[in-house]
Amino acid sequence: MIRAIVLWPDPVLSEVCAPVAQIDAATRTLCDDLLETMYDAPGRGLAAPQVGVLQRVFVMDTTWKDGERTPRVFINPEITDRSETLVIGSEGCLSIPGLAADVERAEAITLRWTAPDGRILVERLTGFDAVCAQHEFDHLEGLVIFDRVAPELRSALQAEYSQ
Ligand code: NI
Repeated sequence: MIRAIVLWPDPVLSEVCAPVAQIDAATRTLCDDLLETMYDAPGRGLAAPQVGVLQRVFVMDTTWKDGERTPRVFINPEITDRSETLVIGSEGCLSIPGLAADVERAEAITLRWTAPDGRILVERLTGFDAVCAQHEFDHLEGLVIFDRVAPELRSALQAEYSQ
């Protein structure tokens, strides 16, 4: 089911999300809905708070816009390592439509998470996968791209967005 995407500055986007205590039918429905909503939007990543659910879940598919679908679901993700090398790239957000901002991110991260079938997985992510995962992980911490830019730029961006 496609769910409504919460738009900034809805306060739900600034909340820290709670871990998923037990993966049940509702969790799996949430994961399916997040993917369906992300593809419909259309976007390459979507986090649970963006549909108003304050749980530590996000989905992403960084390849589908170039061809093949590779849907991925991350439950209770943890970033266990960040490269010292940083990259700056332009990022958009489905909760802040029409706006893009240059954000600095680690070039590579190690992500540990639980899959919908309960397995614990660990993977080193690089390139756009790493950037996208850090953006979605931020949503679970109540952070959006506005929180990742310098204060002066933030003011300018927010002014641009509210027009
Ligand atoms: Ni976003």
